[in-house]
Amino acid sequence: MNTPRSLPPLQATPEWAALASHHRRMRELTLQQLFAGDPARGTRMVAEAAGLYLDYSKNIITDETLRLLQALADARGVAVRRDAMFRGEKINSTEERAVLHVALRAPRGSRILVDGRNVVEDVHEVLDRMAAFAGRLRAGEWCGHTGKPIRNIISIGIGGSDLGPVMAYEALKACSRRDLCFRFISNVDPADFVEATQGLDAAETLFIVCSKTFTTLETLTNARAARAWCLAGTGGDEAAVARHFVAVSTNAQEVARFGIDTANMFGFWDWVGGRYSMDSAIGLSTMLAIGPDAFRDMLAGFHAMDEHFRSAEPGANLPLLMGLLAVWYNNFFGAQTVAVLPYSRYLGRFPAYLQQLTMESNGKHATLAGQAVDVPTGPIYWGEPGTDGQHSFYQLLHQGTRLVPCDLIGFEQPLQALAGQHDLLMANLLAQAEALAFGRSAEQLRAAHAAEWLIPHRVCEGNRPTNILMAERLGPRSLGSLVALYEHSVFVQGAIWNINSFDQWGVELGKQLAQQIITELQAEGDLRSRHDSSTSALIERYRAARRRRSGG
Ligand code: F6P
Repeated sequence: MNTPRSLPPLQATPEWAALASHHRRMRELTLQQLFAGDPARGTRMVAEAAGLYLDYSKNIITDETLRLLQALADARGVAVRRDAMFRGEKINSTEERAVLHVALRAPRGSRILVDGRNVVEDVHEVLDRMAAFAGRLRAGEWCGHTGKPIRNIISIGIGGSDLGPVMAYEALKACSRRDLCFRFISNVDPADFVEATQGLDAAETLFIVCSKTFTTLETLTNARAARAWCLAGTGGDEAAVARHFVAVSTNAQEVARFGIDTANMFGFWDWVGGRYSMDSAIGLSTMLAIGPDAFRDMLAGFHAMDEHFRSAEPGANLPLLMGLLAVWYNNFFGAQTVAVLPYSRYLGRFPAYLQQLTMESNGKHATLAGQAVDVPTGPIYWGEPGTDGQHSFYQLLHQGTRLVPCDLIGFEQPLQALAGQHDLLMANLLAQAEALAFGRSAEQLRAAHAAEWLIPHRVCEGNRPTNILMAERLGPRSLGSLVALYEHSVFVQGAIWNINSFDQWGVELGKQLAQQIITELQAEGDLRSRHDSSTSALIERYRAARRRRSGG
């Protein structure tokens, strides 16, 4: 067994105490004052790497804050743990696994060993097979059972086997093949399957069944429904499965047991966490949509950020800065959430993607040594694209009683011909960050002749912190850098809290209970319920409705 890191409780450390006392001074300061006292702040508190520009000047921090946060990172061994991750050590101690999503984008020829084996060679072998398959399919050479070329691709998966592919497909739509139709099925709700297959010809449809374990209830249920739908639409010959199904998994045995030939399987490895897998074979749908070259460009973006995280100085290290700022607000200002606000419709699913990445990683209550964590861990991530969000929940961001730090993400170049509209979009991003930071005071309102009685309602206090992330344009490379930035920021936070960001035991209980309840919902006759009175009554109510449905 891997020996877990044993660190003192955070609140007992001098670095934490120093930050707590510094916070007592900082909470009295405003961004207005910080900017007034340092005219160069907006060009000084910035960092740029891997095609991303981070302006962190509109945070309630000083150079001293950053120095103290860095001292905390040093005391918690963030860099040591980072290096252990990059070396392939089994830092996921509860599952005794290496954590090597960085190997998924390591260039051909590099070397990362797991149990003595260079996994980068394995990665490129799979990438090459994916590229060959994508090339055939995109060229119309991969035909279905009846000889028609495949035109529809349906990816079946859930959690990390869905959120990344969906997000990336949406994000990169502008450079994807529009003559191919991509759909995604995740939920066990039959509506998902029915809607995704609606109007499609089975003879032209390929299913990619994505599941790391190949045991996930939702995915296998949908995959079985897909097989039945496919056979019904292609003449009923079992041989059709080989032309209409491919699998992405670490579990060849279960793939074969399901009936998919392992020759049609693209593998990955237990050292890739589900929520860190969109750049593995789980991204096959992405590669089919944008092509192998653009997929490799995305990997290059990921890798550039990995290298930056591994080697940049702390003061210029984007993931480190973002991770430390997240800890600053979560633990010292008591901010419970972080809003991620992309100013791009194409990034509409990015907040949902980040929810799994951040919350499944850092929603933990035990330290690596099995003690209770003595401070709040992972904040709640949420968000919607701007400008839509502005006409919805931004009111609370500006005038609500809660502090919500925001990440605003924008792009300098439009992807569409309507460049003037892009100017409007970006003007809104910049305006929101300015309004959140500096607000509008009673004096300013009076000077603008606002009615006195309305002033309390119209005042915006400001002092709402934001990070602004800008890239030249949204594309495979910048998407890769952006995702890697958040992956590593999550890592930094987890290392400070000394939790395991790479397991997810909390999701198990619900899965087990659901298995038991499924049998109860479907059982005939009387049940001797072993649940609480609420769950038992609801089960009985559902069973009664089920009996009515079947006329029983
Ligand atoms: O339920 C949580 C989870 O295990 C995620 O961590 C994972 O991404 C998802 O389920 C799907 O798992 P699989 O890829 O094994 O089907």
